[in-house]
Parts: sequence; C-alpha cells; structure tokens
Amino acid sequence: MVNYLRFLIFVLFAVALTLPIWASRTVEGQSATEAPTGFDTLTNDATFVSQATHDGDRGTFEERDDVLKGLGPVYNAQSCAECHQNPVTGGISQISELRAGHSDGSGNFVPATLTINDGGGLTGVTIANRSLINQRATCPGVVTDLVTHAIIYNHPNEQAQERVPGTETVRARRMTTNLMGLGFVECISNQTLQSIPNGQPSGMKGELTQVPVAEANGALRIGRFGWKSQDASLLTFAGGAYLNEMGITNRFNLQEVTTLCDDVSDTTPCNNNPQIRCGEDPDNDIDAFARFMRATKAPSRDTRLAATASAQAGASLFHQIGCDVCHISTLTTAAPGTLINGGAFTVPNALGNKIIHPYSDFLLHDVGTGDGIAQVIDPNTGQLDQSMRNKMRTAPLWGVRTRNELMHDGLNYTRNDAILRHANEATGVVNNYRNLSTTQKNQLIDFLNSL
Ligand code: HEC
Ligand code: HEC
Repeated sequence: MVNYLRFLIFVLFAVALTLPIWASRTVEGQSATEAPTGFDTLTNDATFVSQATHDGDRGTFEERDDVLKGLGPVYNAQSCAECHQNPVTGGISQISELRAGHSDGSGNFVPATLTINDGGGLTGVTIANRSLINQRATCPGVVTDLVTHAIIYNHPNEQAQERVPGTETVRARRMTTNLMGLGFVECISNQTLQSIPNGQPSGMKGELTQVPVAEANGALRIGRFGWKSQDASLLTFAGGAYLNEMGITNRFNLQEVTTLCDDVSDTTPCNNNPQIRCGEDPDNDIDAFARFMRATKAPSRDTRLAATASAQAGASLFHQIGCDVCHISTLTTAAPGTLINGGAFTVPNALGNKIIHPYSDFLLHDVGTGDGIAQVIDPNTGQLDQSMRNKMRTAPLWGVRTRNELMHDGLNYTRNDAILRHANEATGVVNNYRNLSTTQKNQLIDFLNSL
C-alpha cells in the first residue's frame, strides 16, 4: 500500500514535469508529420535523395578500403558498414571500440599516449593525446596484388600495432550505435534541445554540449551524436570517422594519426576542386557518407509486438515511472528551410517538421555508468570539459531490439540488468521500476523489445 501511494505520487509528479515538453511540442509541431520508418535501404524521400543516388552512396558506405586507398596505418575496420550494418547498412552491430587514458594529479582525464614501432628500428614513434585506441594496423605487413601477384605494399619491419601501456588505467569499451534516421536528429533545432532540461526535474537535467561544425569553420552547435554528444553534424562525424575508424584522411582531417608505413599522400587535391586538399579522399566520400545517413529512414517498430496488450501496458509504465524524463519519446525537427550546422546545411522538406520517436533527449546524464573519459572541448577554456567525464548521452532506444549487449560498454546482457544498472540521476525512476510487479516489469520489457 505504501509502495502504491509512493508510486501514485511519483506518477502525478512525473506527469506534471513532462507537461512543458508536450506544450512546446505542439507549438513547434503544428504542421508536422510522422517521419518515414523502416529498416530498409530505400531513400526516405526521393525528391531529397533519389533511390539511384542513395544506392550509390550506400555502395560507398559499404566499400572496403585497402592500403592502396589509404587504409590505416592504424584503423578499426575497413568500411563504415563493417560496424554499422544490423539489420541493414546504416544500422548497428556488436562491434565495440576501446578508449583509454589516465587521471592526472588533479583527477583530470588525460587521453592516452602510446609508443609504437618498438623494435622496429626507429625510436620514439608515439601516438600522443588520443583516447581512441585503434585495434588494427597495416604494418608489419607485406601485401601482394590479387591479379598480378606483385608486392604492392612492403612494410615488413615497421610496427604500428598499438598496445595500451599499463599506466593508462582509465579504459572503456564503446558499443557501435545506430545511424538509421540520424538525418532527422541532425535537423532538431538547437532551441528544441536547449529547452529540454527546463522540463526535467532538478537532479535529472540533461547537460548540453557545444561542439564545432567542421564544414562551418568550427562554428559551435549543440551536440547530439556519439556516446558523449561529441558532434552535431553528420558530415563532421563522417570526416572524423573516416580518419579515426579507417585511417583515411579527408578535407576536414588532413593529418594521419601516424605516418609510419603510410604510402598514400595526404596532400592530394580534391577531384572536384583542386584548390582544396582532400588527402586520401579525393572523391569526397565523406559527402556520400553524410548524404547516405541523411536519407535513411528512422528505425521502425516491431509492429506485431507493439500491438500486444502487454507491450502497450509497458509503454504506459515507461511513461508513468519516469523513464521518458530522459528517454523522450517524441521530438519534432525544425521547419524546412531552416539553416543549421552553422549555416552549412538547409533543412530539406524530407527532414523538416518531422515527428520522430528516438526515446532520447540526446543530452548527457550521470546515471552511474560514466566511463571516465572526457572527450568534448570546453569552448571557453579550449581544454577538455572534465565535468562530462562521468556522464553519457541518453541511449536512444529506437531500434534497441537489434542489440543484446547493452549500455555504452555492452556489459549488460538483459534489459532488466541494463535498467537496474542506472543509478545517480536515475535512482528515483529505477526505484519505481523495482517496485513494479513481475508482470509489470515484463510488460515494460515487452515494450522495449518492440522498439
Ligand atoms: C570499427 C567500427 C566502426 C566503424 C568502421 C565506423 N564506426 Fe561509426 N561508430 C562506431 C562506434 C563504436 C560509435 C560510437 C562512438 C562513440 O561515441 O564512442 C559510432 C558512432 C557513429 C556515429 C554517431 C551515431 C550516434 O549514435 O550519434 C556516426 C554518425 C558514425 N558512427 C558514422 C560512421 C561513418 C560515416 C563511418 C565510416 C567512415 C563509420 N561510422 C565507421 C563504430 C564504427
Ligand atoms: C536520468 C536519465 C535516465 C533515466 C531516468 C533513464 N535512463 Fe535509461 N539511459 C540513460 C543513459 C544516460 C543511458 C546510457 C548509459 C550508458 O550507456 O552508460 C541509458 C541507457 C538505457 C538502456 C540501454 C540502451 C542501449 O542501447 O544500450 C536502456 C534499455 C534504458 N536506458 C532503459 C531505461 C528504462 C526502462 C528506464 C526507466 C526505468 C530508464 N532507462 C531511465 C538515461 C536515463
């Protein structure tokens, strides 16, 4: 009985607190329509990106790069689709990445420094101040051509394999995230994200990041992409990922992580504009990656499960106990014609005034799972913003049914365990979950499995 009363009071409280979010939603969303959904490779709007262009872009996103194309010297995989693929290209996967660093005397996070080429004849080759660890390298390596059998890459003695020194004691795994529907997320206005904390109770207010947009000369925008909301533009992220995941330099990132055993020039001009340097990406594949992501549909529901009485009861519980304080169910994108990304992108009809159901506020929270990694530069100090070390972006739950290894580090194997791991800002909400009956908990999990 006491539990029930406490539950009821919380419900009223939670409903009152989410009212401002609903209110702003109706004003902005007057002529808004639902965004198209589907785990498919069809364009989200042929008047924005034709099916032929979208298929071509997908081909570029799926293309396996090799040493002759500039792969490496250090990298994580050979194509974007190697990690972003489930159930179709652009989705998610079980592949994780490693980040590392250490705390200095004042408790500040310092990204790792690695010495490579040990025993390789050269001394002192280091990769400094970089928390992303690359788990593959092209050398030591000798590669022959499949057709002519001649040696086309010849670095038998250099050693670029990264090994994390024992002194870099802060280590974190990061799971791959979904890219489907991210064009809609990019088109959420700064103001919409900035107003979200007003509707969240104190102690649960999400923290905004401000991050540079590469294609707008570093103009700042509210972050929303990545586990730390460390990016705001899909083109900026694509340029970063091409270098960081595949080792391919591009017009926004001309400097290799290391030049050891790198045969491909990083000063090649762009094919479409010889005035600009494109490095190892003369065709500007990064534009195709960004256009591909922007033309994907949002993840669809498992409609059969979603229609069950159990999943529908679970959807109500998800709201009633306050999960959607952070995992916001509905957001509306900016109107078509709005200039975003520091003026570098105009919201097209396909992506503007669209209602999406990402189940995220795209803001950072401390739910007791922080990985200790500071990643966003504080624009005021030019230094890493240490306050975000132990915060993570609210994981968007659309498409969560495509994953079994949950949370940023993939260390929770059931929905129940992932929920119970939430603490700190989420303590009250998770206690509400604990107080649910077994039937209700199963209903909530049926709902999650329908997303
Ligand atoms: C080795 C696996 C791997 C490869 C290859 C890879 N990614 Fe990712 N991707 C990840 C992981 C892991 C994350 C989450 C990163 C983080 O925030 O720590 C991610 C996140 C992203 C995001 C942010 C999504 C979100 O949730 O906000 C974008 C955009 C993205 N990747 C685009 C790309 C593009 C474009 C390529 C190819 C150039 C690429 N990725 C290649 C693993 C990969
Ligand atoms: C205070 C904000 C907050 C509240 C309240 C909250 N979450 Fe979360 N949730 C997060 C954050 C942040 C993450 C990412 C944590 C991480 O990966 O370390 C997350 C992650 C998750 C994940 C893992 C998703 C994935 O793709 O790995 C699930 C499932 C989840 N939450 C469900 C719930 C449910 C159900 C509730 C209500 C009982 C809830 N959350 C309440 C912020 C919140």
